[in-house]
Amino acid sequence: MNILVIGSGAREHSLCFSISQSSQLKKLYAIPGNFGITEFAECHNLDIADFDNIHSFSIEKKIDLIVVGPEIPLVNGIVDYFNKKNIKIFGPQESAAQLEGSKSFMKDLCREYNIPTAGYEKFDNFKDAIEFLESQSYPIVVKADGLAAGKGVTIAENFESANDAVKDIFNNKFGEKMNVVIEEFMSGEEASYFVCTDGLEFISLLSAQDHKRIGENDTGPNTGGMGAYSPAPIFTNEVKKQVDDEIIKPTIQAMNDKGMPFKGILYAGLMIKDGTAKLVEYNIRFGDPECQVLMMSMKSDIVEMMLKSIEGSIDDFKIEWFEESCATVVMSTNGYPGSFKKGSIINNLDNINNDSDFHIFHAATKGSNGVVLANGGRVLSVTAKNKSLQAALNKIYIEIEKIDWSEGYYRKDIGYRALSK
Ligand code: AMP
Ligand code: GLY
Repeated sequence: MNILVIGSGAREHSLCFSISQSSQLKKLYAIPGNFGITEFAECHNLDIADFDNIHSFSIEKKIDLIVVGPEIPLVNGIVDYFNKKNIKIFGPQESAAQLEGSKSFMKDLCREYNIPTAGYEKFDNFKDAIEFLESQSYPIVVKADGLAAGKGVTIAENFESANDAVKDIFNNKFGEKMNVVIEEFMSGEEASYFVCTDGLEFISLLSAQDHKRIGENDTGPNTGGMGAYSPAPIFTNEVKKQVDDEIIKPTIQAMNDKGMPFKGILYAGLMIKDGTAKLVEYNIRFGDPECQVLMMSMKSDIVEMMLKSIEGSIDDFKIEWFEESCATVVMSTNGYPGSFKKGSIINNLDNINNDSDFHIFHAATKGSNGVVLANGGRVLSVTAKNKSLQAALNKIYIEIEKIDWSEGYYRKDIGYRALSK
C-alpha cells in the first residue's frame, strides 16, 4: 500500500516509525512532515486544511490509506471527505469527532448515558455564567467549549480567577463564538488510556501518563506535553475494567445510538482517585507525546489494525506489545510555552544511533545546508524502551547529554511518579 500520514509532529514521526515496519507498506508519504520524518517518508509541504489539494496529491501518488495525526482536520471532516472519494482513511467522521471538538457535546453525552465525569453546567452568555459562579465553591474548572490547543482550560482557585477566565472566553480569546463549560474540580491522579474502535467493538491499547507542565515537579504553565511513559502504574487491571465497562463501552454504544459511530483512536483522559476513574476529556486521536511511547511498544502491524477499524472487524485483530517499559522526554526551545526563537542550531544528532529501542522523534525541525534547525516550541521527543522504566529513562538522559543544542530545554524528572511507587 501507498500510505499518507497527515501532520508534522513527533507523534507523526512515531506513526511513520511504526507504519514503516508494516508488511503492507509500499511507499510512505507525509504532509507536511518535518525534517526527522524524511527518514521514513517522502514529505510534501502542502496545507493540511486544503482537502482538495490533498486529494489531488493522493490521486497522483496512488495513495491507498490516509492516517491523520492531529485533531483539527478530523474535527473539520477530513474522514467524511475522503470516504466520499473512496480513499481509505483512518479516524472518526466529523460528527463523531465532536467528542473532542465540543466539550458540551461530550459532557451532555456523559450525562445522558450516566458516564462518570465531573458535574458541569454550560453557558452561552456572560451574565448567567457569572451568576452561577457566585454560588459555587472553589476550585472550579472553566473551559472554552471548542478546540483551543490545550489552552482553553482554567483551574480557578477563586471567583476572581473564574470570572477572568469566563471573560476571556466570551472575548473570543480562544476562538469566535465559543460557549463556556464550568465543571466541578476533580482531584486525583491523571492517566491516559487508548482504545481502537471500528464503531461497534474496540480493542484496548495501552495506558500512559504525560507531563503537561513545563517545570519539574509539575510546576509552571501547561504545554502540549513534556514527556510520557507507558504503562501507567495507577491504571491497574481493576481500573481498566471499570473504565471499559462504565466509560468506553457506553460511549461507543451512545455514538452508535446517535447515528455517529466512532471509528479510530479514542483517547480517554482520566482522573483516578481511590481506585476509581472519572472521564476528564476525550480526544479522538493519539496523544502527543503518548503516541511516541505507544508506537515503540507496539509489536503488531499498525496498518492491519487501522484497516480492521475501517472495515469494521477490529475484534479479529489480536494486538501484541513488547513487554518492556517505554518513556519519552521532550526537548523544547527555551521560552516555550511562552515566546521563543526559531532557527537555533542542533548539533551532533548524526552521532546518535536510532534503532527500534531508541529513537529521537522530531517534533519541529528543519534541515538547512546540512545543519538541523529547531523550528518550533516542542522540537525533539527522545524515546526509549527497556526492561524497566528506570532503564529506559537512563538511556534517554544519557543520549540527551550528547545533543549539542544551546537553546534546548527538557525536564529531568519524567516518570517520577511511577518511579516512586
Ligand atoms: P482538558 O482539555 O479538558 O483535558 O483539560 C486539560 C487539563 O485540565 C486536564 O488534563 C486536567 O489536568 C485539567 N482538568 C480538566 N478538567 C478538570 C476537572 N474537572 N477537574 C480537575 N482537573 C481538570
Ligand atoms: N498529550 C496530550 C494530548 O495529546 O492532547
